[in-house]
Amino acid sequence: MGKASAPGKIILSGEHSVVYGYPALVSAVSLRCFAYASSLPEPGIEIISKDLEVRQIYSPTEVYQLKDLPLNSKTDNLAFSALKTLEKIGINPLKQGISISLESEIPISAGLGSSAASAVSVVGAILSLFKKSLSSNEISSLAFEGEILAHGTPSGVDNAAATYGGYLRYENGNVSKLDIANEVPVLVCNTMVPRETKALVANVRKRYDSSPNIIGQILKALGQIPNAMIDSIAKQDFIALGNLMEINQGLLDSIGVGHHAIHKVISIAKEFGALGSKLTGAGGGGCVIILPSDEDSENEIHRALKEQGFDSFRTRFSQEGVRIE
Ligand code: PMV
Repeated sequence: MGKASAPGKIILSGEHSVVYGYPALVSAVSLRCFAYASSLPEPGIEIISKDLEVRQIYSPTEVYQLKDLPLNSKTDNLAFSALKTLEKIGINPLKQGISISLESEIPISAGLGSSAASAVSVVGAILSLFKKSLSSNEISSLAFEGEILAHGTPSGVDNAAATYGGYLRYENGNVSKLDIANEVPVLVCNTMVPRETKALVANVRKRYDSSPNIIGQILKALGQIPNAMIDSIAKQDFIALGNLMEINQGLLDSIGVGHHAIHKVISIAKEFGALGSKLTGAGGGGCVIILPSDEDSENEIHRALKEQGFDSFRTRFSQEGVRIE
């Protein structure tokens, strides 16, 4: 049996503008997805996801065709990354079958990178099963091949975070792991409003196409925030960081990726002393990250959100990326 796991992530800044070539600042979190791989007696790729409640078996030919078909099942991308991984390590998918089962601690469709963490852990579990190794860059790229099927034109930031762990600065396909050890003590609140990254990215693109000068300037402003945040995190200047989060949220609202549930969470957090809050990931629902002013404010915000039917949790920062066992 092969086993691997990979972390989810939060985007501190740079969602959407990263698609247009600007930098993003991402941090891996302690929630992980676990994948277990075993050989099948017949060719084929079986994906079993407890969280998606899916058990699907693909023939190799079906997986080869996935690239040309609309996404049918939420596990298509995983089957595709699995097939590409087999090919990469010199195993013929027409001869060797595998079964992969996944269990995840990362909420689904919430902007915490669950799909990329699944893909990276699938690649890792196959490497573990066949006792092969690949570079981090190769693992991330194999996961990315599946992410393209799932999300259209993803930036690649999620699979990079799931592979490398830590704080990452991501720009135009280039990932640099930042030498920051400081934890940003954020609360994550899941609005429980599901959303689809692909549709949100496409909507921003439509706005951009119809008002390129205006939206272009907003994306440019968004693109300045990650570097400013890196600076404030390194200096532990949480007041500055909170201000940047608020500016970031305002700009994201103006490109149409806000949601009234996000605004409700943000206003409750503000009322109870948050230094700043913003959506994380594609928006339109999903998760909000909140920077409380201190421990009392953190407890108060958590309690107030709970009273309004929202759940929040403190994520731990994770220095560790993919773990192949
Ligand atoms: O919501 P998520 O975790 O899928 O993040 C999407 C981030 C975007 O910038 C909106 C898209 C991308 O591919 O980077």
